[in-house]
Amino acid sequence: MSDPALDLQNVAGGYDEAMVLRGVSLRIAPGTITALLGKNGMGKTTVLKSIMGYLPKRAGTVRLFGQDVTAWPPHKVARQQVAYTPQEQALFAELSIRDNLRLGLARDAGFDDRFAAVVEHFPFLSGRLMQLAGTLSGGEQKMLLVARALMAQPRLILIDEITEGLQPSVITRLATALRRERDARGTAMLIVEQNVGFALQVADRYSVLKRGEVVAEGATAAADAEQTIHAHLRV
Ligand SMILES: Nc1ncnc2c1ncn2[C@@H]1O[C@H](COP(=O)(O)OP(=O)(O)O)[C@@H](O)[C@H]1O
Ligand SMILES: [Mg+2]
Repeated sequence: MSDPALDLQNVAGGYDEAMVLRGVSLRIAPGTITALLGKNGMGKTTVLKSIMGYLPKRAGTVRLFGQDVTAWPPHKVARQQVAYTPQEQALFAELSIRDNLRLGLARDAGFDDRFAAVVEHFPFLSGRLMQLAGTLSGGEQKMLLVARALMAQPRLILIDEITEGLQPSVITRLATALRRERDARGTAMLIVEQNVGFALQVADRYSVLKRGEVVAEGATAAADAEQTIHAHLRV
């Protein structure tokens, strides 16, 4: 059996004053998508920042593709072909679409091939590379952020609440693009969400986080998945 793409075992930690995560365990198989759900303030963003090395861990281990990265700094984690789209991330509105996408790559070499692969998921980008990113609609800008994450052809993608404030039609396009990428390249993903509909559309498995602990998990295809998630998000 191959190593999990991501394996968190009993990760505890948070910020100086506040212990936020109280023993989070999470395992994502290669080629699968997990949705991490939970209400505001439950620790979802803290999980992603802890994985990426922006926050120290007080206990537990983080493994990427079998490698223990628990104590690694962010730049070293990112070099493991991990793409991270933070919750607060914005585009550079004054830069072209091309320059924004270029930021997803370490080098300019290979841009055209990578773009050709990404534009299959997001046809609206076709022929618009020189357009300023700030002229795109809000939904298109979110899709461009995801497209940027895909440019590097990562093995693991972490995305924090990308669907906030988006129309249903854009949410469906994002779900389709992420599933196609998973199918085409076997990319693993951890998608932090509060939109249960999107989570069920895009993910193979779900975990619900409550006060720094995983309180429920399962397959999104299970008959009780939606009910279980809503029950935990209500209280
Ligand atoms: N920089 C910070 N310093 C101290 N506490 C923080 C910081 N950022 C978030 N927190 C706290 O950590 C908890 C979890 O936050 P967060 O991971 O952002 O939750 P979520 O992403 O699920 O909304 C909250 O109680 C929040 O107030
Ligand atoms: Mg958050």
